[in-house]
Amino acid sequence: MTTAARTQPTTEDASAPWWRQAVVYQIYPRSFADADGDGLGDLRGILSRVDYLAALGIDAVWLSPFYPSKLADGGYDVSDYRDVDPRLGTLTDFDALVDRLHTNGIRVVVDIVPNHTSDDHAWFQQALTAGRGSSARERYVFREGTGPDGEQPPTDWVSMFGGPAWERVADGQWYLHHFAVEQPDLNWAHPDVRADFVRTLRFWADRGVDGFRVDVAHMLTKDLSEPLPSKAALDALPIDGTHPVLDRDDVHDVYAEWRAVLNEYDPPRTAVAEAWVAPSRVPLYASATSLGQAFNFDLLEADFDAGQFRTVVENNLALSARSGSSSTWVLSNHDVVRHATRYGLPAPGRTPDGRPANRHGREWLLGGGVGDLDVAGGLRRARAATLFLLGLPGSAYLYQGEELGLHEVADIPDELRQDPTHTRSGGFDVGRDGCRVPLPWASAGPSFGFGPGPAHLPQPGWMASYAVAEQEDDPASSLNLYRRALQLRRELLAGEDLEWRDTGRPDVLRFARHGRWEVVTNFGTADVPLDGGEVLLSSGAMRRDVVPAETTFWLAPRLSARTPQRDPEVRT
Ligand code: GLC
Repeated sequence: MTTAARTQPTTEDASAPWWRQAVVYQIYPRSFADADGDGLGDLRGILSRVDYLAALGIDAVWLSPFYPSKLADGGYDVSDYRDVDPRLGTLTDFDALVDRLHTNGIRVVVDIVPNHTSDDHAWFQQALTAGRGSSARERYVFREGTGPDGEQPPTDWVSMFGGPAWERVADGQWYLHHFAVEQPDLNWAHPDVRADFVRTLRFWADRGVDGFRVDVAHMLTKDLSEPLPSKAALDALPIDGTHPVLDRDDVHDVYAEWRAVLNEYDPPRTAVAEAWVAPSRVPLYASATSLGQAFNFDLLEADFDAGQFRTVVENNLALSARSGSSSTWVLSNHDVVRHATRYGLPAPGRTPDGRPANRHGREWLLGGGVGDLDVAGGLRRARAATLFLLGLPGSAYLYQGEELGLHEVADIPDELRQDPTHTRSGGFDVGRDGCRVPLPWASAGPSFGFGPGPAHLPQPGWMASYAVAEQEDDPASSLNLYRRALQLRRELLAGEDLEWRDTGRPDVLRFARHGRWEVVTNFGTADVPLDGGEVLLSSGAMRRDVVPAETTFWLAPRLSARTPQRDPEVRT
């Protein structure tokens, strides 16, 4: 028995927009490669590694913020949206990088951070000096405090990073910041704000940027009419498009304007929303009249479990069919514990509505990474999950270092941690630095080849054995698994169809893609018989008749007349 799922386009369609099934590789620039040796990755560092990116076989890079920033939140506190942080390079370096990537057939997506600026941004500095009642303050959200002298915040709202969501300035007013203190929220009802972001989009699109990743896309517009509700009242309100601060319907007025601008370009510039919203509301962001695509973080929150994976795939293919966009798939990014590590730790348990009961890996990180982690098992499951993901219809978003099989770094001394979630949560969370540690390119050297100098976050010794140079010539390495998978994916990919095959087992998933290839994942802990098919690629051991435990195979479809056997380079 087979179950067909969706979608458009169902047949091979060479004219489908490039992004629909692109493999997008996320670069966190400060931790990718450091050309000048100051310990912070830079644009010239990325430029020096374009050959590596081309050999990996990706379609696009997404650059996390490289703009001027005092790094209160890893660069997501932007002080100038139309420039490059001098520590990372210049606009000329940026142009050279885009040029070099394009020459290698790699498109470029940049991060846009519209919910908040840095408190170093010229607008915020003007707002501080101009004082209460000034038009400069109107671009942000300033309010008087409560209590006899206004010494209490306007409300008891809490920031996403912990602690109060309001900060008091010298003259006694308070400003709203849903993230760090250094990230004042913009007022999206202000025409200057709207106009300035359109200018920013054009600035980068004119420089050849192919698309935008929109940070915290669900929080820009707000209804802050007085009286402001208390936290309890706010939390009790439905998030149905009318909530005062989350996922409001009117945010799509902003994106409709952006979409019109992006569509002026040929080809139209893409945008993908980072929107943490209810599944039923994701299509609003992904629709062709809004941003056009939205992240789906469901796999990232799933355990390594066949039932959960299948539900996630079915739900998200149905959602993308509703929006007309393609689905996105993510296992790791700069905000979460790396998936090799998550899958090596006990599952966090589930709430009644099926969400993880806790941030996966949080307890382990808090304990300094001692005990519990199954290093080899985590990587085995991560490789299987990745090969499963890369077989799905839609775009795959990969995070730098996952192709090396990197684990999370847990043992970063408190005084070296940079993520504001660490201090703002009062140590409740240790933050996200563990997935942002600079990449190891070589097994020796001051920062394992990251640069000629040190690394801005400490690299543990074990990273040496994960270095690119160590993996280059090892056919069983994670790097070569990713390379081979991306190359094969290019050869095999056609439409966005997916057809489930019945495996008769709850722990094995199998699906077919347009008669060209099948993907079978054994999520269980025992080998299972392989029910036909010729193995093209394996995430683990290569066997003819069984799918080993916790392993994904890519298979040539079962044909009556056998096709010549391919000879996969990756055999482990
Ligand atoms: C997004 C980013 C995250 C950042 C936050 C605030 O969630 O992915 O890294 O801290 O927005 O800008």
